Amino acid sequence: MGKWQRSLYQPVLPLGKDGKRVTGSAEHIALSRKAAGEGMVLVKNENDTLPLAKGTKVALFGKGTIDYVKGGGGSGDVTVAYIRNFYEGMKIKEAEGEVSLFHELPEFYEKNVKEQYAAGAVPGMTREPEVPDELVTKAKAYTDTAIITICRFSGEGWDRKCQINDEGYELFEDEKKQIELSASIFENGDFCLTNGEAAMVEKVKANFKNVIVVMNVGGMVDTSWFKDCKEIPAVLMAWQGGMEGGLAAADVVTGDVNPSGKLVDTYAATLEDYPSTENFHKSVYYVDYNEDIYVGYRYFETIPGAAEKVNYPFGFGLSYTSFETEVLGAEEKDGKIVVKAAVTNTGKRAGKEVVQLYYGAPQGKLGKPAKELGAYRKTRLLQPGETQRVVLSFTVEDMASFDDLGKVAKSAYVLEAGSYVFYVGNNVRDAKKLDFTYDLAEAEVTAQYTSLAAPHKLEKRLLADGTYEALPTDNGPVEEEGLERQDKLTLEGFLPAVKAQERKSFGELMEAAKTNPNLMNVVEGKETLDEFVDKLPTEALIHLLGGQPNTGVANTFGMGNLPEYGIPNIMTADGPAGLRIQPQCGVNTTAWPCATLLACTWDPELIEEIGKAGGEEVKENNIGIWLTPAVNIHRSPLCGRNFEYYSEDPLVAGKSGAAMVRGMQSERIGASVKHFCCNNKETNRKDSDSRVSERALREIYLKAFEIIVKEADPYTIMSSYNLINGVQASENKDLLTGILRGEWDFKGMVTTDWWTHGEHYRETKAGNDIKMANGYEERVQEAFEKGYITRDEIALCAKRILTMILRMD
Ligand code: BGC
Repeated sequence: MGKWQRSLYQPVLPLGKDGKRVTGSAEHIALSRKAAGEGMVLVKNENDTLPLAKGTKVALFGKGTIDYVKGGGGSGDVTVAYIRNFYEGMKIKEAEGEVSLFHELPEFYEKNVKEQYAAGAVPGMTREPEVPDELVTKAKAYTDTAIITICRFSGEGWDRKCQINDEGYELFEDEKKQIELSASIFENGDFCLTNGEAAMVEKVKANFKNVIVVMNVGGMVDTSWFKDCKEIPAVLMAWQGGMEGGLAAADVVTGDVNPSGKLVDTYAATLEDYPSTENFHKSVYYVDYNEDIYVGYRYFETIPGAAEKVNYPFGFGLSYTSFETEVLGAEEKDGKIVVKAAVTNTGKRAGKEVVQLYYGAPQGKLGKPAKELGAYRKTRLLQPGETQRVVLSFTVEDMASFDDLGKVAKSAYVLEAGSYVFYVGNNVRDAKKLDFTYDLAEAEVTAQYTSLAAPHKLEKRLLADGTYEALPTDNGPVEEEGLERQDKLTLEGFLPAVKAQERKSFGELMEAAKTNPNLMNVVEGKETLDEFVDKLPTEALIHLLGGQPNTGVANTFGMGNLPEYGIPNIMTADGPAGLRIQPQCGVNTTAWPCATLLACTWDPELIEEIGKAGGEEVKENNIGIWLTPAVNIHRSPLCGRNFEYYSEDPLVAGKSGAAMVRGMQSERIGASVKHFCCNNKETNRKDSDSRVSERALREIYLKAFEIIVKEADPYTIMSSYNLINGVQASENKDLLTGILRGEWDFKGMVTTDWWTHGEHYRETKAGNDIKMANGYEERVQEAFEKGYITRDEIALCAKRILTMILRMD
């Protein structure tokens, strides 16, 4: 295929071996279902309630049985041919003779949910109907086993349990509608059961002996209503499992799939137990990250008194079989901690186990989390009695901490003196301490950097002993002189201009082709990119710095688009759950399980396979850049977009994201790793300031991006909407140039998120190469003419965009 043929001509060229389309193909959907089964987490299973014994009679309760939520909303949504709910899954199992169902109940819910959809509700934003007593009585006469399904939906632009303070902030109309709707359905916030759900649960508990719960949710929710509840012996966290998630959940409850997923977040007893909750809604204009590096299990396993607040620890998940993990040896070799272990399936069913290696660095002067995940490995499917040896390793340097205040060495990564300890197990709480320690007599600096993106208004941060330390504050950065900032409304939702081409004869066109600089000359090695860029007029370079009109089935716009210089218009598309094409195009794609579920597989190889399959769909539809993976940290259960993100732990997020990028870029589809960084709240997402220490930035919020940059070389990174310590992410030179390029040697290009509130030329100066979805050429041109930006600064970003385009097929 000729270079850029897909972008230039939008051919209908299927990628399947037999000339068939791969988009939304049976093979891809089967992979989606398989992944869904691999990431579901069994958190409770008393008396071997699950898997259901062959022939079990089952009553299905809850509108979630029908109202299946395949994934979250906004750019994380996907247009699909169909969605399979849990009832459909169980009907297949009934047809296969595994269970029998009391159909009247799901039929009742089916009718009710249909009516709610017809009245405008979307999946997950429906109300729990009161189940008639006579149906309960009939169901009780039929069986003593009930399965309750609870579902949840969230999306872009609003948080779970929103609260707007009286700070003069005006909501957009659609934000307001969504927040009001959510508040009216979820009286207690969607973390908790609604009153209707709670009443249904009580009714089921009162009437059935075996009550099983299936949670079709995007992440952290209340688990206290079932954790110690005797009447509920089994619970499956089935997540939002993509288009066949309902089938995958049925696979797991019937035992056709043995669950092997593990939690990637800590499940605390109440929402208030998460340290991030207190400040989450304090202001609409800023969030203080006072808990610092103590996010998720780093908080719950370290801070005195926090451990008992945990219902289910990070890394936890049950299986229908049992495993024994024997540590065969641990050592430090060539700067690496290496642990060898043997995992044996000691139960009666084939299954997979995840071996997790944690380290604990000495408290020293900086203070450290009690345990931090250093490496993990999922086994293959082990038959009963079968053993697999695994090797886990990470570098000694990975255990260093960032010393932002200079307690040991200012702005350096330091390994403090003392004993480093290690733990191996299948969740953070139960991991066993090894005899082996790594001992350091004196503190060592592993990397010396400078202070970047420091906080100005964050007054205090949490320490390992549960006290707070005061942080230095000041008035914040002083903005460089320049153009008066644009009114925000002129930055919202504009489409890129479609450039007119003057009337030309074929002769003139051919003449221009001979004389104009042409990017193809760079492809063919006739000139260097620098030589090519030097020949382009400044206006052409400025044109490259903004989003370009959609072509074909794209709806999130393109990059490039200077046909007179041989530069194609490369299309972009969302998103983390699959290629998102708008319904009116008539193209259905594969909806993969949500990112949280994928992370719960703890299986980077499987995620890589999905990245490749998804990348093929992107390519087949003539799109070049896939706006995924999204790797923000699950800082708070309240963030509306957690389902799109992987984990509370940067290593899991980084390894999962890197696998995704490797898979998709093997198809030469550019990844856009987002949202760089600290986009952990959706309310007022374009103007909320994330106030965070340099240490927490580097050890928690930037870490996943760092791993992905170093392991997978993504073509692009998307900066986030929010501010970080007073500076818009897209204008944040410290982050985009200082850390991303200076420290990590990132070779790709940076895009803004779509329609940021940043000033275009200031973004360019910071190293944010392109403004999406639309650039403001006239503003950059004016800034150039007034001397606020140089041609070199413009050319540098243009060159990075062209380098990215040159990497495409
Ligand atoms: C989202 C991004 C998305 C982009 C394009 C933005 O609103 O934050 O994640 O990729 O839109 O749809």
